Amino acid sequence: MNILITGSTGQVGYELCRSLALFGQIKVPTRQELDLEDPLAVDEYLKIHKPDLIVNACAYTAVDRAESEPEKARRLNMELPAQLAEYAHAKGIWLVHYSSDYVYPGIGDTPFSEVAPTGPLGVYGKTKLEGDEAIAASGCRYLIFRTSWVYSARGNNFLKTMLRLAEVKNSLNVVADQIGAPTPARLIAGVTAVAVCKIVSCRNYREVQEAECETVASGIYHLSPTGETSWYDFAQSIFRLAAAKGKILALELSNVNPIPTGDYPTPAKRPLNSRLDLKKIQSTFGLSLPSWQDQLALTLTEYLEKS
Ligand SMILES: NC(=O)c1ccc[n+]([C@@H]2O[C@H](COP(=O)([O-])OP(=O)(O)OC[C@H]3O[C@@H](n4cnc5c(N)ncnc54)[C@H](OP(=O)(O)O)[C@@H]3O)[C@@H](O)[C@H]2O)c1
Repeated sequence: MNILITGSTGQVGYELCRSLALFGQIKVPTRQELDLEDPLAVDEYLKIHKPDLIVNACAYTAVDRAESEPEKARRLNMELPAQLAEYAHAKGIWLVHYSSDYVYPGIGDTPFSEVAPTGPLGVYGKTKLEGDEAIAASGCRYLIFRTSWVYSARGNNFLKTMLRLAEVKNSLNVVADQIGAPTPARLIAGVTAVAVCKIVSCRNYREVQEAECETVASGIYHLSPTGETSWYDFAQSIFRLAAAKGKILALELSNVNPIPTGDYPTPAKRPLNSRLDLKKIQSTFGLSLPSWQDQLALTLTEYLEKS
């Protein structure tokens, strides 16, 4: 089986290249080999390489920059998934895609289910939602994993930014009223592997006319660790754990200050409530998702060992 993974240099894509290697031959075009902003190049690549499964981890993820580059964000977050979904539908293959808690309006304090009303607050969330809708409308077989607050031992993310700042600053203000679950890219890739295992074991996997696999329904699934935290508490946990593992920090924990979102203005508005209801993914795939604290400990250890 040929598996096309887009965005393989990103946080999630990097981990997918490892977690999906058991299922077939992984195709990972670099940006130089395939510019995903170019629809003709994408068509040509699909025609030549004929993937049996597409896993789209490419996205325009610069949430604030998206406010001034909406067309670029729309191409990668909406048009690209739509194009991949159209191909998947025509060939009867599955498309695995990733989406975001930013498609929800962030109101209230209960977890959003997959059928909760959407209402993105910015261009990034809006274009991610348009991508999800385009995939669903295409008629292809798909899994969309909506996840939150992605981080990993690689790439640009909150964990690495906090540790860098803690080496050079002696005080730090961190937003304390946005609540969600930080999700390691490796967890996303692990769950994707479980899902792909189910997909490829479907009897009708290669049948173009079949709309569904008998064990997995096409659809949106929320994916994050269990539990919830704020960016402020997450930062405190990072510093505490890093110090316990011997990392020297210039920053005293008592000098990490909780602030409201309003005191940290950004071009894109962020949702205060990023909680995701995980019942559907756990029951469909037979998972018992781990806590964000356990996942942080694993990811931090990995990061400190490699840095
Ligand atoms: N990051 C988060 O906090 C977060 C939260 C919720 C959901 N998600 C979703 O999770 C998924 C994975 O996110 P991530 O954090 O792993 O993203 P990421 O680290 O920003 O990676 C994005 C990937 O897309 C590639 N890419 C961008 N433009 C491209 C182009 N024109 N041609 C070829 N490749 C291009 C990047 O390549 P280069 O390395 O060459 O730039 C990179 O490999 C996305 O769907 C995202 O929306 C992320």
